[in-house]
Parts: sequence; C-alpha cells; structure tokens
Amino acid sequence: MKKFNTHINPWKTGVCAHPGPVLVARMIFGSVFSNPRKRNGRILVAFASQTGAAERIAWLSANALAATANRVVRVAALGSLSVTELAEAGTLLVITSTYGAGEAPDSARAFVRKQMAQAPSLKGLSYAVLALGDMKYDATFCGFGRGLDRWLASGKARRLFDVVCVNGDDDDAAMGKWAQQLNRLGAQTSAEALMPGPPRDWFLDERRLLNPGSQGGEAWHIGLRPKDPEQLNWTAGDIAEIWPRNSQALVEEFLTRHELDGEKSFRWRGQWTYLRDIIAHSKLPQPHEVEGISLEWLVERLEAFPHREYSIASLPESGRMELLVRKAVKDDGSLGLGSGWLTRDCLQGGVVKLRLRPNPNFHPPAANEQGEAPQILIGAGTGFAGLRAHLLYRQQKKLGDAWLLFGERGQASDLYYQEDLAAWQTDGTLARTDLVFSRDAAPKRYVQHLVAEHGAEIGRWVGERGASILVCGGLDMAAGVQDALITILGEEKLDQMTQDGQYRRDIY
Ligand SMILES: Cc1cc2nc3c(=O)[nH]c(=O)nc-3n(C[C@H](O)[C@H](O)[C@H](O)COP(=O)(O)OP(=O)(O)OC[C@H]3O[C@@H](n4cnc5c(N)ncnc54)[C@H](O)[C@@H]3O)c2cc1C
Ligand SMILES: Cc1cc2nc3c(=O)[nH]c(=O)nc-3n(C[C@H](O)[C@H](O)[C@H](O)COP(=O)(O)O)c2cc1C
Repeated sequence: MKKFNTHINPWKTGVCAHPGPVLVARMIFGSVFSNPRKRNGRILVAFASQTGAAERIAWLSANALAATANRVVRVAALGSLSVTELAEAGTLLVITSTYGAGEAPDSARAFVRKQMAQAPSLKGLSYAVLALGDMKYDATFCGFGRGLDRWLASGKARRLFDVVCVNGDDDDAAMGKWAQQLNRLGAQTSAEALMPGPPRDWFLDERRLLNPGSQGGEAWHIGLRPKDPEQLNWTAGDIAEIWPRNSQALVEEFLTRHELDGEKSFRWRGQWTYLRDIIAHSKLPQPHEVEGISLEWLVERLEAFPHREYSIASLPESGRMELLVRKAVKDDGSLGLGSGWLTRDCLQGGVVKLRLRPNPNFHPPAANEQGEAPQILIGAGTGFAGLRAHLLYRQQKKLGDAWLLFGERGQASDLYYQEDLAAWQTDGTLARTDLVFSRDAAPKRYVQHLVAEHGAEIGRWVGERGASILVCGGLDMAAGVQDALITILGEEKLDQMTQDGQYRRDIY
C-alpha cells in the first residue's frame, strides 16, 4: 500500500492527521478547491527531515501557500513518494536537510537508493529546493539538497529558482529568499513567520556529576525550570536548543575594561537587546578589535554564538526539564561552548536561554493494529538522555515490554541513572536490560556488538511481536547499530520500519 506522511502536523492548529497527501488548503478552511486535478493548480510540498526543522518549514510553507495561493497544496514525506508521483506533482517544493556526511535524512534513505538511482523523466514538473544544513560541515554543506536539485534537473524538470541553502536555524537571509519565492507562488509570508521564535528564559535548577572517576568525559545531569510554566510542553523525543553565553564575570570584566555601558540597547538579531546581553551571547573580540571603533560598529561586528542541541531526558509532567550533558574538553583544556556553559559556567539559579524544538521523527511510534507494541531502545553515552524520556513515557503510560541495550565505558563509574533502571525493572517498564561497558572487556565491546549478539531475539521481537526500535546517541555508534540491524532484519525491512515510523533515530 502506498504510504504517505502520517504525522499530526505539530505546527498548525486545527490540522490534521492525514492518511494520504494532505489537501492542506481547503481542508483547513472548509471547502475543497474547485478543480484539484488541474495540474498547474497543484503544489506538492515534500520534506525530508531528521530532527524536525525541514518538516516544520514544509508545513509552514504549505500552510502559507494554502491560505492565499489559489492552489491545492499537499504535504508528503519525500521518502513516501515515487518518481511517477513527483512527475505528476505539477509544482514540487522540496525542503530537506543533510545528515551524516552529505547524506539524506533517515526517512529519505530508501528514496535515494530506489528513486534517485533511476534516470527520471520529469518534463512538465516545476520545482524548487530549500536545503537545510550547517556551514560547519563545510564540504558537504547542504549536500543532499543540492544533489536532489541536480537530480530533478537531470530529469528535465523546470527549476523555478536556484536551490536556497540555509545555514542553521537562524539564517534569516536565506529564509527571506525562500519566503520571497513562496510569495511569488501566491503566498503572503515572511522569513520571520517561517523561522522558529526566540529562546525563552529557564533557570538552572540542578547540576550533578553522574560519573565521578570515569575514564571518559564527565557526564552531567542538568535540571532546568522555565520562567513561564507554559514552556513545560514537549513530547518524548524532542530537543532543547541552548544558547551558550560568556560567564557573568567575563561580561562585566569586558564592559569595565572598555568602559562600555551594559544598559544601552541596540537592535540585535531582530530585537532590542541590552549591550550586556549582546556581549554575553557573542564571541568576545580582541582588544585591538574594540579600540577606536563606534559602539554601533562593534555591535554589528560581534559574532553571535551558535546554539547547541540536547536531547530532552525528562517529561514535562515532572515540572522541569532534565538533560544529560557530556562536558567537551578541547585539546588546550578549554571547554566546549555549550557543554562548558551548562556544566561549569552557568551559576546555580542563573538564566539559560532555551528553545524547544519539536522532533516528530523521534516521538513515540504510533500503536499498530494489535495495540501498543514492545520497544527496543538502543544507545550509548549521552544517548541515554533521549531513551530516558521514552522510558519515562512508557512508564507513565504503563506500556511495559521495553528492552534496553545500552553501552558506556566502565560499570564502576558510568552506570548512571541506576535508580531509574531499578524502578523500570521493578514496575515492568523494562522487560529486559542488556548493558555493555567497553573498558571492562578485552577486546573492547560496544552496544553494536551487543545488538549483533542478540540478533536472533531482536529478530523475534520485531518479526513476531511488532517491536519498534529507537536509537539515540553518537553517529558512529548509530552507524554500527544500523549495520547490525541490517544484518539481522535486512535492509528492506529496516526501510519499511523507517517509513512506518517504527525505526527512529536521534543521532549526532
Ligand atoms: C540532535 C542532537 C542531540 C544532542 N543531544 C546531546 C545530549 O543529549 N547530550 C550531549 O552531551 N550532547 C548532545 N548533542 C551534542 C551537543 O549539541 C554538542 O555538540 C556538544 O555538547 C558539544 O558542544 P560544545 O559547544 O560543548 O563543544 P564545541 O565548542 O562545539 O566543541 C566540541 C568539540 O569540537 C572540538 N573543537 C571545537 N573547537 C575547537 C578548537 N578551537 N580547538 C580544538 N578543538 C575544537 C573539540 O573536540 C571539542 O571537544 C546533541 C546534538 C544534536 C545535534
Ligand atoms: C549528525 C549531524 C550531521 C550533519 N551533517 C551535515 C552535513 O553533512 N552537511 C550539512 O550541511 N549539514 C549537516 N548537518 C546539519 C543539519 O542538516 C541541519 O542542522 C538541519 O537544519 C537539520 O534539519 P532537520 O531538523 O530537518 O533534520 C548535520 C547535523 C547533524 C546533527
């Protein structure tokens, strides 16, 4: 059976679980547009997203077009589409991110292997691509989006405009270009409307070292409380974006040294902001970069810190957000920007700027026809964070029947969250727990080895009991686990599980 995206649109009120490609336009506002079959009158918005950004922009773009363009607008996951469906789409807008090293997000992996392997015939199709990426990946910046753009052009589809490459979540110039092009297609939107809102204030409530004596990096349990309780609103699998900042002491020292008034306000990143806050969230300039220049010019030149993502390790019902953060230490002994801020520099009770990021691709899988299925949760290191939120969710819903396969360094120091494990084992949330500690064995064993060793049982959980699989943690671990799962289940089955939302990954 043909499969389309079946998520509920998390970015639109009043819309819309959809069994097929969605008629966003007229379904929202009541009547179906008169001639939906007319080719030029249709727009297909396809997305491929790993952590939700492309999916979010796809829905907002579709909704903007649906509201004012005289067209029928559909939204579908790129991975659910065939070349034939693309060829018949009329106008196709693809919004995609890039993962791994220039690769497609998980949900489009099979699309790449099966559809993009063909030389397509796409005459009559008009298209454009919005490629999300991050310039820190340099050579592979927006690699998948660009590749897709070339592939569509190779099929003689008509490019409406050049691929728009977006650097991170806050690239208002690129999003402005995209909004402009949407408006040419009949929408009335803006970069601001398509971009995520500003971060909110949270307070550091708890900071606790979980693995004293570890041979690996320090792992910290971070507790945060929102200033506004309405922020206690996320789903297991979602991500917290944190805005790192310079310590208060460093900011005050900078202001004093350069005789600057921290209370002065400037228009900065779209908002009126105190100089003290601008300095706090920017890379501090060298003295020679400051001397003799106007304050306005200084503010303009300051390089704002990027934000950092962390998998949320708790549920909102607990009244606070918990994160599991590895302290990154650079070769020169200085700390990583984001982890250093959270694990050392932020004062207890201090403000942490945080934005919630819905991550539908890592939400709890939907129940199947037999009801709630068992679940296999696989991860290593800080990957415990994302898995913990899911185990808390299963505990809350009394779902039981979960199997955790988890790897860390040494049992003596790195078996953190033991109380949680014990509680889940006692109340039946965890039916089975397999742990592996790489430094306790020779040769070293990792969680991917554990997965391979338990291949037959994993095959039974998936094949006979319909278990879903969640993987959370670093890219190398996730790649090793995926290879093991392909050996156990076969690539076709894993592709199918990906399309059905039964195999989900939160990887970094
Ligand atoms: C979806 C997602 C979820 C995530 N979830 C988690 C989580 O739950 N827990 C967690 O701990 N992390 C998580 N991460 C990773 C996290 O976002 C950060 O990447 C991580 O904390 C490191 O960031 P940092 O700012 O502390 O370090 P950075 O400043 O980015 O430095 C990281 C590393 O880069 C190298 N480096 C950077 N600058 C230099 C330099 N000048 N000289 C030499 N080396 C350098 C060093 O090796 C350093 O250790 C997640 C990432 C994503 C994308
Ligand atoms: C593990 C990882 C690998 C990534 N690899 C690339 C890459 O090779 N090239 C690139 O431009 N962006 C890369 N990115 C950045 C993402 O494409 C970018 O954050 C994008 O906004 C994510 O959109 P999504 O949430 O829709 O998946 C990577 C991000 C992560 C976490």
